[in-house]
Amino acid sequence: MNSPFVMIIFGGTGDLAQNKLIPALFSLFNQNFLPKDFFIIGFSRRDYNDDEFRDFFKELSEKPNWREFSNHLYYQKGDFTKEEGYKELIEKLNAFDKKMGACITRFFYLATPPENYEAILDYLQSTELAEGCGQGSNKWTRLIIEKPFGKDLETAISLDKKLSKIFEEKQIFRVDHYLGKETVQNMLAFRFANGIFEPVWNKNFIDHVQITFSEKKGIEERGQFFDGVGILRDVGQNHLMQLIAGVGMEMPRSFTKEDLRDARANVIKAIRCIEPDEVSGLVVRGQYEDYKDEKNVSSDSQTETFAAFKFFIETPRFEGVPFYVRAGKKMPKDEVTISIVFLQTCHILFKEYGCPEIGNVLTIRIQPDEGIYLRVIAKKPGSKLALETVNMLFTYEESFKTKGLEAYEKILIDIFNGDQMLFNRSDELANSWDFITKILKGWEKEGEKGLKTYKPETWGPKEAQELIERDGRKWL
Ligand SMILES: NC(=O)c1ccc[n+]([C@@H]2O[C@H](COP(=O)([O-])OP(=O)(O)OC[C@H]3O[C@@H](n4cnc5c(N)ncnc54)[C@H](OP(=O)(O)O)[C@@H]3O)[C@@H](O)[C@H]2O)c1
Repeated sequence: MNSPFVMIIFGGTGDLAQNKLIPALFSLFNQNFLPKDFFIIGFSRRDYNDDEFRDFFKELSEKPNWREFSNHLYYQKGDFTKEEGYKELIEKLNAFDKKMGACITRFFYLATPPENYEAILDYLQSTELAEGCGQGSNKWTRLIIEKPFGKDLETAISLDKKLSKIFEEKQIFRVDHYLGKETVQNMLAFRFANGIFEPVWNKNFIDHVQITFSEKKGIEERGQFFDGVGILRDVGQNHLMQLIAGVGMEMPRSFTKEDLRDARANVIKAIRCIEPDEVSGLVVRGQYEDYKDEKNVSSDSQTETFAAFKFFIETPRFEGVPFYVRAGKKMPKDEVTISIVFLQTCHILFKEYGCPEIGNVLTIRIQPDEGIYLRVIAKKPGSKLALETVNMLFTYEESFKTKGLEAYEKILIDIFNGDQMLFNRSDELANSWDFITKILKGWEKEGEKGLKTYKPETWGPKEAQELIERDGRKWL
């Protein structure tokens, strides 16, 4: 990237900016991805000046080149709901344009809790900030918006309407950083570039699919954000849907932005929705013990910290293949994996030699240690015939001697290049919200009785085990 730019991070002192965005920008700076001239402005409430904002990123300050990078950081104090801060921001932006002698591209990054989106968008419109300085002819602005995009289908549609009044689709980047992860992208290469997997990637060979998204930590300091959201909206509507799309999609017509987004949108649309009155049989909702005592959580909160569900994708490829998905906090491990469990054929020849209960499993590990594992059945060494499962494995780090780009680094590079392939299109989001909203409606109907408590460091309520075990299967 050679052209100068300015990125305004609304929520510049938030968790996302502190732990992901600024570290990713700093890393891109160190890898010479950024132009000579760029400006990053943090916009938040607290009373900081530029130097205090630079000092805010203490953990980075010891690293080489921090001083050079931090000279590009600026701060704008302001309340999202008051015009004053935006007016001052305009003056800053005009000064940067003047310094550069040109209208430089403005990236507005909404790194804020979703309840702030509306106010910020209104002010971007009313103050004409959204127009950029090259007003009228060509909009030199881009809008980056984080998940969760809305609270349900209705609010997502209304947010989208608002966005489309202010920005054109090509200016809007709806972030789901899971799409920036190497393994999630690699799933396409793995499936469609290797001739050996595509023929077995269907109901004739696959018994079922499992997805686990587990975090050891609880909600920590994020009670205010999480309690109004819950795990299904926080990771289900976005990250899990992207993983499901990666497994379930048909081959895109070409490896281009629209064809890839079409393929993702089509498979999400093909998921058979769990209707509200089916929820109690197909969805499990859990909350960890003592969640209600967490900071900034309501004492009668019914917010779920765990969800598990079973569903089907209604395409000729996956008809009748169950997908089991679970996501939770305070689980025994930090792990995000997709497991494709293949039909067991060992018994045809080896029944009396003791076939393992589960045979071939292809595990795509999104984190930690991004990689792919194939479980195969092998003969144990020795004079007798006995069988055991072993893993063939590929990890990014071992094979390529690098972990690749961090997801937010990839996301930012694509934003700078105007490449929307790894960003959600509004119909993808509408389809996934449709699925999630029906579950939320079912929970509303069920009320408190549907919420099951579970002990920290367990795999959720016992009902989550029952969900899969009643089909004669088990979580891996
Ligand atoms: N945290 C993550 O790792 C992560 C990962 C993926 C996506 N996200 C998404 O990113 C977004 C931001 O999350 P977060 O965890 O960074 O939130 P957060 O830690 O709660 O940060 C909120 C930020 O917004 C500012 N703010 C809040 N109300 C304001 C107001 N009225 N006026 C001006 N500033 C205000 C805060 O400023 P003060 O400090 O001045 O109060 C702070 O900078 C969310 O949509 C979240 O889902 C987060």
